[in-house]
Amino acid sequence: MGRVRHDDGPPKIDSVDRGLLRGERDEAALEEVSLRPRTMDEYIGQAALKRKLRVFVDAAKQRGEPLDHVLLHGPPGLGKTTMAQILANELGVRIHITSGPAVEHKGVLAGHLTALEAGDVLFIDEIHRLTPVVEESLYSAMEDGRIDLPVGEGTRARTMPFSLAPFTLIGATTRTALLGAPLRERFQIVEGLEYYADDELAAIVQRTARILKFTATDAGAAEIGRRSRGTPRIANRLTRRVRDFAQVLGRDAIDRADAEYGLGELGIDPEGLDAIDRRLLIAIVDLFDGGPVGIDSLAATLSEPRDTLEDVYEPFLLQRGFLVRTPRGRQVTRKALAHLGRGGDGPPQGGPQGELPL
Ligand code: ADE
Repeated sequence: MGRVRHDDGPPKIDSVDRGLLRGERDEAALEEVSLRPRTMDEYIGQAALKRKLRVFVDAAKQRGEPLDHVLLHGPPGLGKTTMAQILANELGVRIHITSGPAVEHKGVLAGHLTALEAGDVLFIDEIHRLTPVVEESLYSAMEDGRIDLPVGEGTRARTMPFSLAPFTLIGATTRTALLGAPLRERFQIVEGLEYYADDELAAIVQRTARILKFTATDAGAAEIGRRSRGTPRIANRLTRRVRDFAQVLGRDAIDRADAEYGLGELGIDPEGLDAIDRRLLIAIVDLFDGGPVGIDSLAATLSEPRDTLEDVYEPFLLQRGFLVRTPRGRQVTRKALAHLGRGGDGPPQGGPQGELPL
């Protein structure tokens, strides 16, 4: 068994090959600049997960073995990639980053696997998007540390088994249900990331403001945190944008009024709903009589990809009690009607309410 390397400093990111769409890549790159925490101690929230992962990391290091394969699941923006980088950092090994769509065929996977040194982490984001053929060749790599490499050409083409250095695969997926059982069962550690609590997001906003060389008052940070849909990536984005408003107004710190003003301009209402959330709820109310409505009808009506609705919008609206799922589809709740000013429970709760442009 090769020993894992324990050196100091941030993880050495060997290859970044995320295969994301341009907008996603830009956003990820922007966030990456300096906002990502590098250690478990810097990482705010996910306390139970951190406690467990710390033990697994310490145990693997004590044994001089690679960490077992880890599957991280949870909605986008909660810190799955960040956590993978922290795990590599705390293990003192290199991390190779790629994504399901970027691993287009077995050769690409073989390239990543054969580049690994003992103990390294291979991180595959959106692992549910691997093709079945690639996924299958991952099985033997995970289980036996072996892949079959093609050798020879034409009639002499055959495969030869190749032994890999012991490594850790960290897979990330938005929903475990998207992952077939054969792959899921090959991860020895399967953990979910939860939406963040408001006070954790406020702390993340404070930290981000500090890194951006700006400050936020407690009330200002709390307001941004509260409207960040439980998601650090959104908290960071809103912090950057609210800082722009505050800065141009000549403010030296984001206070509650600055946060309310900036967030209002950005179309983020007091519950943290954005224009698409509101369009979604209004569409169900106005066009589908409050529901139930199937996800495909909603996606077609809103011209939004079904995946985005299922990964981003629906989990948040369900978690906050604006939407319920029934066997026949999605239905709005009384809370949603009240929020939209449609329930007879008083006027809408401020903020832009977004017209449905249909
Ligand atoms: N930035 C993004 N996610 C973070 C987290 N969980 N802790 C600290 N900073 C973050």
